[in-house]
Amino acid sequence: MPQALVTGANRGIGLELTRQLLESGYSVHATYRNTEGGLTELAHPLLHLHQLDVRSDEAIAAVASAIDGGLDLLINNAGIADGRWASVEDIDFEVVSEVIEVNAIAPVRVTRGLLPALERSGGGTVVMMTSLMASIADCHSGRSYAYRASKTALNMLTVAMKNELLDRNISLMLLHPGWVETDMGGPNAPLQPKESVEGILNRIHEQTLDMSGRFVQYDGAHLPW
Ligand SMILES: NC(=O)c1ccc[n+]([C@@H]2O[C@H](COP(=O)([O-])OP(=O)(O)OC[C@H]3O[C@@H](n4cnc5c(N)ncnc54)[C@H](OP(=O)(O)O)[C@@H]3O)[C@@H](O)[C@H]2O)c1
Repeated sequence: MPQALVTGANRGIGLELTRQLLESGYSVHATYRNTEGGLTELAHPLLHLHQLDVRSDEAIAAVASAIDGGLDLLINNAGIADGRWASVEDIDFEVVSEVIEVNAIAPVRVTRGLLPALERSGGGTVVMMTSLMASIADCHSGRSYAYRASKTALNMLTVAMKNELLDRNISLMLLHPGWVETDMGGPNAPLQPKESVEGILNRIHEQTLDMSGRFVQYDGAHLPW
């Protein structure tokens, strides 16, 4: 049976990804930063829980060593919002660094730590949970400085890895989940996690090596860089 790993799986989109991957027959390594949250309600024989702060190489190595066999799918889902500062004067640069650390650098850390597990499956797929807010072409309203910059950096780090990982049969995806009602998306979001994740899983299942590096949203629409 295929194996997947989802970061930030205790709530929001990560929790729904875990639920639907289990329903479709995956063995799922679901990771949480502090508390198991909604994962406690998902008791399932194919669910394996791991504590993981995605900023820690040590914690990533511990999770990697707990995975038997190959990893077919890695979903770098964990992410944080920024301070939604109203003006340049309000920007808190410590928060900017933290947002870039979690949203852009950590997904590459996690991917690097799990490359041996991905290679044991003969390659596999790595999903980077990005955002339409990464798009420079679509940045009309501005602001959300750190969040936008972090996801744009994630996009570039991913495209920059593409050729190297293609040689190792690993396909990369930059996936925008849509505007989803979660703690991050807020109560006005038009999409529920269930619908977003159904679309995300369709995108993952249609992914081939020659699609590696595409920037796509949950419903299949290609997004402008
Ligand atoms: N919701 C949207 O509309 C939307 C739109 C575009 C993109 N996205 C992206 O989709 C992904 C999931 O978003 P969401 O809406 O589900 O967000 P969410 O409800 O706020 O959940 C975020 C998850 O990330 C985890 N996380 C944060 N920092 C972490 C760290 N250092 N180590 C490990 N886990 C960490 C959180 O863990 P804790 O519970 O411990 O904080 C939580 O499980 C994010 O990458 C987000 O940027 C969301």
